[in-house]
Amino acid sequence: MIPIKLAGTGSYLPSKILTNFDLEKTLDTSDEWIVRRTGIRERRIAEPDQATSDLALPACRQALAAAGITETDIDYIIMGTITPDCCCPAGANVLQGKLGAHQAVTFDVTAACSGFVFAMDVAMRYLQAGAAKTILVVAAEVMSRVVDWTDRATCVLWGDGAGAAVLKAEAGGPQIIDLYVGTDGANGQNLLVAGGGSSTTPISHESVDKKLHTLKLIEASASVRVAVAHFAQAVHTVLDRQGLKVEDVDLFIPHQANIRMLQSLANRLGVDFDQKFFITIDKYANISSASSAIALDEAVRTGRIKPGALVCITVFGGGLTWGAALIKF
Ligand SMILES: CC(C)(COP(=O)(O)OP(=O)(O)OC[C@H]1O[C@@H](n2cnc3c(N)ncnc32)[C@H](O)[C@@H]1OP(=O)(O)O)[C@@H](O)C(=O)NCCC(=O)NCCS
Repeated sequence: MIPIKLAGTGSYLPSKILTNFDLEKTLDTSDEWIVRRTGIRERRIAEPDQATSDLALPACRQALAAAGITETDIDYIIMGTITPDCCCPAGANVLQGKLGAHQAVTFDVTAACSGFVFAMDVAMRYLQAGAAKTILVVAAEVMSRVVDWTDRATCVLWGDGAGAAVLKAEAGGPQIIDLYVGTDGANGQNLLVAGGGSSTTPISHESVDKKLHTLKLIEASASVRVAVAHFAQAVHTVLDRQGLKVEDVDLFIPHQANIRMLQSLANRLGVDFDQKFFITIDKYANISSASSAIALDEAVRTGRIKPGALVCITVFGGGLTWGAALIKF
């Protein structure tokens, strides 16, 4: 089997901070409610002139530097995103132009909050097939531009940012030892942008008046239970396949959707939440596909991941989508 090296990571967060107290001024909400129900205290918001590719660019440059390569070494750029700069072309294509990686083949992967792990999955398959040697995986979102800022049930949950990783078909260093993804399209209407597509609600004055171009969360409470079950199943799948146990994992890096959801996942797995779960939701909220990518980079850069550590990234998202990746540092 061709080895898959996690050669370098990077991330970028816009500097503008929007706190819960800021939201109190325009919405019928409170810092106390948001912190208690979600764990979120603040989130980052892109500047008006920053699109998703603009957040992805510095994250990618950081990942390339960490991997000791340049943009001319990249065979593929695979971007996980649900907020590309525009519907067409792909966000990864726009990024390629800005990065100057003209030889790279580029495309997007749409898997909502699971987008980083889905993009890594595609990258791994190319590398294992011998079709590429170096792939830049990036997950980036400007969620602030697709939420309805008058809908308190949804808008308080999201933020903007980007995370990136370079994967190489190479032995040595951190190795991705297993990766698993799953989907359930039949039950995938819980996180929805209904308007603007090819369905019965294409963009029109009426669809915009009804705010169908904004993100809706359907049955949010019920989705917490479904999410925890899929997160846990994904973790057990990769561990079982490798003959490993939950207690062998040194650090879990989960998608950051809701702190209570993640505490419940830790309980279900039987691990100490404070010791073993890497959390960024308090600072950055939910950045969809980018959450786990940013958390991975932060865990690497802050020294939370020690050499030899076994790390499990686990994700769940709209669609429905879920997955887990096991990395031995
Ligand atoms: C959204 C979420 C934070 C809501 O928390 P919850 O504990 O389930 O809260 P509920 O939906 O039961 O709402 C409780 C009450 O708070 C109110 N409320 C909702 N948002 C609020 C806000 N920002 N501020 C104050 N009150 C709010 C609701 O109107 C409701 O009021 P009611 O009881 O009078 O009807 C939580 O369900 C969640 O995180 N769900 C998963 C999110 C998800 O699926 N993410 C995408 C995939 S990863």
